[in-house]
Amino acid sequence: MCGIVGYLGNKNALGPVVDGLKALEYRGYDSAGVAYINSDSCTVIKRVGRVETIEKLVDKEKATPHLAMGHTRWATHGAPTTVNAHPHFNHDKTIMVVHNGIIENFQVIKNRLIELGYQFATETDTEVVPHLIEYHFKQSGSFEDAFEKAVSELEGAFSIVAISSLALGQLFAARLSSPLVLGVGEDEFILASDPSAIMEHTKKVIYLEDYELAIISKKGYKIRNFKRAAVVEKTAEELDFDLEHAALDDFPNFMLKEIFEAPQTIKLATLGRIRPKSGTVKLGGLVDVKDKLKEVQRLIIVACGTSYYAGLVGEYLIEELAHIPVEVQLASEFKYRFEPFSPSTAVLAISQSGETADTIAALKKVEGRNMLRLGIVNAVGSTVARMTDAGVYCHAGPERAVASTKAFIAQVCVLAEIGLHFGNGKIRDRKRFLQELDSLPKKAEQLLTQVDKIRQIAEKYTRFSNFLYIGRRYGYPCALEGALKLKEITYIHAEGYAAGEMKHGPLAMIDKNFATFAIAPDCQVLEKVYSNISEIKARGGPIVAVATEDNRQIKKLVDDVIYIPKTIEQLNPVLVAIVIQLFAYYAAIKLGKNVDRPRNLAKSVTVE
Ligand code: G6P
Repeated sequence: MCGIVGYLGNKNALGPVVDGLKALEYRGYDSAGVAYINSDSCTVIKRVGRVETIEKLVDKEKATPHLAMGHTRWATHGAPTTVNAHPHFNHDKTIMVVHNGIIENFQVIKNRLIELGYQFATETDTEVVPHLIEYHFKQSGSFEDAFEKAVSELEGAFSIVAISSLALGQLFAARLSSPLVLGVGEDEFILASDPSAIMEHTKKVIYLEDYELAIISKKGYKIRNFKRAAVVEKTAEELDFDLEHAALDDFPNFMLKEIFEAPQTIKLATLGRIRPKSGTVKLGGLVDVKDKLKEVQRLIIVACGTSYYAGLVGEYLIEELAHIPVEVQLASEFKYRFEPFSPSTAVLAISQSGETADTIAALKKVEGRNMLRLGIVNAVGSTVARMTDAGVYCHAGPERAVASTKAFIAQVCVLAEIGLHFGNGKIRDRKRFLQELDSLPKKAEQLLTQVDKIRQIAEKYTRFSNFLYIGRRYGYPCALEGALKLKEITYIHAEGYAAGEMKHGPLAMIDKNFATFAIAPDCQVLEKVYSNISEIKARGGPIVAVATEDNRQIKKLVDDVIYIPKTIEQLNPVLVAIVIQLFAYYAAIKLGKNVDRPRNLAKSVTVE
């Protein structure tokens, strides 16, 4: 959740560290801080608020250190206060630590250290780390040794970076279940939670794996496995990441930019993979497991948040296109279930970031069970991508706004491709399906020209404090995702519901103050959706609907309609997604909310 950067090199280290924190701010933005070593002492600057607050303070610093680190926080243990902000340090401020993750056994360690006379100033789990390193340093006199001993004692999930005036000119890092990447540049090293903070400096990276620690000095880096107490030989790999994609261009924020990238996102998710003329789909990422795929008789999709809702669309798609039973499970629940699996069950993890702790834990659960583990991931080289046996990248480019938009669209496209790939020959109108998929970027472009109308309607509905999103079949996961988008960025209470279930409870809430967003594009069950809409209308509920162009009938049933271009039912979710994203976006803007950085949330949730 939190973002970490560390720098050692010829430049003034505060520059790359602050820039890196800005790139990682999507991971958490309650508070931020930096620490650096100049000559032989440590300095810490930390505050509640955004990285820009720290940047202003750093700009006033006269020091030009070559060794520094920084942190942007999403609070887990302890309120977001300046005291709880990272870096954390020992009593005499000789050891500085930043941490992402949760140290599950921190209380046990803390109690032990308190008994030994150590004093704690914060409510965080992280603060045990500098004290623990100090404790081991006093025993052995070697900082390298003390760092390794300390991290070996920690349980839970962590990526840790440390600097110390007791180990001048060295940068220390360790990882367990929380991402950490080392960039190896010309005469410089940069450590970060993800490559976006590194790519400006170098494209050569080393992904630290679980139980690995790195000790970095100007001469080079040493990597050790702290579980096995052994040296690990690793060489840098080339990063495949496009810096251009991360810029804001002329958009006021990343969320709008990313919604407007929908046409391009669909193109990139389908490029070179679909061949409408021959009716074939080629997924290079699945070639290696071709034979194993043929044996799959049950598919479990695991994911969180928006990726989970994309998974629900995938359930309908894959069952219909490939005739394979599919279940979608929240990764956070899947991990703690006891259910029987057979080797013919495959698990498919969907994750934009590839770093979501619950999704990673779900994959770990099925490790060693001889089950095929597949992935649909956006972030190239991320943990989920590396943990799975095979997979398909979304190629949506970096997604910066906390609320996921283009990633959902790419995930649905990839799920459709996987459905076709699995179901080779099982559906008759395969060519038509692929032609529709191929024409989707144009339709998305066409839809985006209606943005003003969507804005006006969204603004009108901001007076409601309660919303139900309803849909059936492919419209049902869209309803869930629509409600999530609205609550994430406007903080308006919204629930997604299967339209057919309204009469089993939710109808009781409907009155003139309770708004409904109906997902009603052309589909097999449109008449039934009309009935559900009528039931709401009859009780005075205001309704806005998304429907397929040329549907005049719906105008009579609802208060406002947003039209999408005509496509096949299975691909409606891609176009509907653009509408629900824009609707939530403009409602949030009207309400004066920070759409890129909604309160209490983080882009990459690396704690369970
Ligand atoms: C966070 C983000 C969501 C995202 C979810 C899953 O909650 O704010 O936008 O859908 O994590 O993330 P993933 O990277 O695994 O798709």
